[in-house]
Amino acid sequence: KMNIIIVKDSSEGGKKASKLFYDACANGAKVFGLATGSTPVTTYQHLVKSKIDFSKCISINLDEYVGLKPTDEQSYRYYMEKNLFEFKPFKRSYLPQGDAANAEEEVKRYDKVIADNPIDLQLLGIGRNGHIGFNEPGSSFDLTTHKVALTPSTIAANARFFEDEEDVPKYAYSMGIGSIMKSKSIILEAFGDNKADAVAKMIEGPVTEECPASVLQKHSNVTVIVDEAAAANLK
Ligand code: F6R
Repeated sequence: KMNIIIVKDSSEGGKKASKLFYDACANGAKVFGLATGSTPVTTYQHLVKSKIDFSKCISINLDEYVGLKPTDEQSYRYYMEKNLFEFKPFKRSYLPQGDAANAEEEVKRYDKVIADNPIDLQLLGIGRNGHIGFNEPGSSFDLTTHKVALTPSTIAANARFFEDEEDVPKYAYSMGIGSIMKSKSIILEAFGDNKADAVAKMIEGPVTEECPASVLQKHSNVTVIVDEAAAANLK
């Protein structure tokens, strides 16, 4: 059963999520799965202001664009440095390496990272089409780390971060749904009315690969933090 927390706005949501991180840490959690994008920004802001100490912890991010160097300002590595790691360093922080020479080896390396460091708490956002990580509608629930072709709607949604839609990468490395489902606990955040449809399908719709996030109905420890706008289509 999903635990659903409805908050007023993303700031209150981020505060709630950061408190859950804090509690997990106090209870011995050592490996944190992290996300990028606009949704977790307030969570990282609250974590940065908190007394939490990640220096003995490990972080493993969900995904990274193929082709970008870690120093590229649009890379997820860069985002993580600027939003969290520069202020709250981890013992080790893993992301897929966007500029890895060999995609096949890179996804294998990343699967080993996850196998060696089972995730205690995974933070997720959700795409308007119900994607989690870069697992787009139709992707198999069994997948581990893989290289994905981004859908036109995801490319268009990401275009706001790039000068030109042409510059938006067309591929990404992503943890698979199979990897995500292995984490002991999950927090999914969704803020804003453009997520309302995906949130309703995730929570109340059928469990189907057409809405990747619906798989979370089958996980035993999921907390969904939504603002009122994103909760608007729930019954
Ligand atoms: C990012 C990620 C994506 C985002 C989703 C929502 O690491 O895995 O699944 O969580 O695309 O993005 P925002 O938060 O920008 O609306």
